[in-house]
Amino acid sequence: MKKLLSALLASVMVLSLVACGQKQASTDSGSAASGAKTVRVGVSIYTFDDAFMTLYRNELAKYFESKSNDQVKYEVTMQDGKNDQSEQTNQIDNFITQGYDVLILNLVQSTSAATVMDKCAAAGIPVVFINREPSESDMQSHNTGDFAGKFTYVGADARQSGRFQGELIADLPNKGDINGDGKLQYVMIEGDPENVDAQYRTQFSISQYKEKAGLDVECLDDQVGNWQRAEGQRLAANALTQYGDQIEVIFCNNDDMAMGAKVSIEAAGRKINDNIYLVGVDALAEAVDAVIAGEMTGTVLNDHVGQSHKAVDCAVDAAEGKSLDLYNWVDYVKVTPENASQYK
Ligand code: GAL
Repeated sequence: MKKLLSALLASVMVLSLVACGQKQASTDSGSAASGAKTVRVGVSIYTFDDAFMTLYRNELAKYFESKSNDQVKYEVTMQDGKNDQSEQTNQIDNFITQGYDVLILNLVQSTSAATVMDKCAAAGIPVVFINREPSESDMQSHNTGDFAGKFTYVGADARQSGRFQGELIADLPNKGDINGDGKLQYVMIEGDPENVDAQYRTQFSISQYKEKAGLDVECLDDQVGNWQRAEGQRLAANALTQYGDQIEVIFCNNDDMAMGAKVSIEAAGRKINDNIYLVGVDALAEAVDAVIAGEMTGTVLNDHVGQSHKAVDCAVDAAEGKSLDLYNWVDYVKVTPENASQYK
């Protein structure tokens, strides 16, 4: 009887050990079945419905996969902010409550960065901001105490992309001044005006043009297309109806809108690089093809590969407890008919 009891007792103990082990494996995110450590990364993209950010997020996911190995596995949860800040705030709050190890955030509204940083600082979760740059004062004011070195912005300096757009026109033999009146008559199609990328590209394309070409400008029309191709097409069509041959250049804050504008320009019977010019930013494959074919004047490479890799590297460093630089910049590159084939 004693023997039977002790045998029973032993088997109960073994069972409960197994049960404990199972419980631990399924609830402790820090250890995967293979023995590799799991790092949970929460990503929220401002909207999945954006051509450039689609390239960016796909590359981000791919590069994270390449980082997983026998020691560490990166488990990435990628969410669509649906261009709605309250939706995205919920996603971020959930990542925080669930104790994610690091967040990569492409904010819907960059003004929400301060609140996000307050929450992440309180929870001790590092953050990598991408693509939509928080204000410098928000970045600086949070760079203190325990949170210093735990967050960063990875992006490209939008002033540079604007300057390159201005140069693409200023460097043309006629400086874009098709009608020879000594002034550049242009239309601007802007991205989301809350975004510094849109603000800086709008501003610096023109200031750099004026400086380099030494000519004055006349803005015929300036409209918001929110980065969307259909809007670029609609706004360019309106401008062409209203201002017709007066338009010498259409500056678009990005290529997706430029691709839309291109359709309207062609529908209006105008010929790009002959009696009108068109520039964008991003170097989407279609835009690069158009530059090569002489159907777009130029674009600017917005390096989604460089930026997404840098963002992942920062997230990996942060998860390993390393300190991050406050800013990580990736350069833009001017894309002209001469060098475009390199960016295909
Ligand atoms: C810009 C990019 C746009 C759009 C925007 C979203 O850098 O040029 O195409 O993706 O980011 O914030």
